[in-house]
Amino acid sequence: MTPKSFLLTADVHDYLMDNSEPLDDVQRDLIAETTALGDIASMQIAPEQGAFMTMLVQLMGATSAIEIGTFTGYSALAISRGLPPGGTLLCLDISEEWTEIARRYWHRAGVEEHIELRIGPALDTLRALPPTPAYDLAFIDADKPEYPAYLEELAPRMRTNGVVIVDNVLRDGRVVPGRETDDGDRQMQAFNRLAASDQRFDTLLMPLADGLTFLRKR
Ligand SMILES: C[S@@+](CC[C@H](N)C(=O)[O-])C[C@H]1O[C@@H](n2cnc3c(N)ncnc32)[C@H](O)[C@@H]1O
Repeated sequence: MTPKSFLLTADVHDYLMDNSEPLDDVQRDLIAETTALGDIASMQIAPEQGAFMTMLVQLMGATSAIEIGTFTGYSALAISRGLPPGGTLLCLDISEEWTEIARRYWHRAGVEEHIELRIGPALDTLRALPPTPAYDLAFIDADKPEYPAYLEELAPRMRTNGVVIVDNVLRDGRVVPGRETDDGDRQMQAFNRLAASDQRFDTLLMPLADGLTFLRKR
């Protein structure tokens, strides 16, 4: 399996996978079906990131989660597997086509009862949600230019000690000043500065996968 993190060589990635809980058939098949889609498969989160997210949900005792950017459903599978009975995950995406794959795998994994999927521009869906603290965990992994707006909408909707996780904040290292090559890199640099100075959260940028930022609601 090719590592999704520029921080890991293939052999080190193999080693950490070999020394963690093995992937099950549902995860393996979902990775294989997504890989068959071609280059777009690089949007799927890394398997070690999924395992970490399941464990985080369990450690937090999270009961209510929201995900922005579902694709073929791997991260939602990971989050929902950490939820207790009755726990909920609201998934937002614009693609019927990709999330149709997700739905099949959630059904196979027996987690579909936890998940509600809403199709449409995530910003519209978020703005239509009640503006009250409702979520223990949020995962942002959709269109990068909207990251600041997603965080703004999520902030009042997170419970105290709730955590917002944000994916791809390192962009293969191109967020380091002087290494940026396109507008996407510059937008992520701006988002990272915004997140680090946001007084509503404690902020931690972790070198997991392509960089994951954790924002704990104060
Ligand atoms: C990086 S992928 C998500 C990967 C997913 N978390 C996983 O584990 O496989 C980004 C997703 O965001 C969705 N997306 C892009 N723009 C969006 C928007 N404005 N509103 C909602 N979803 C959007 C895309 O359809 C795509 O499925």
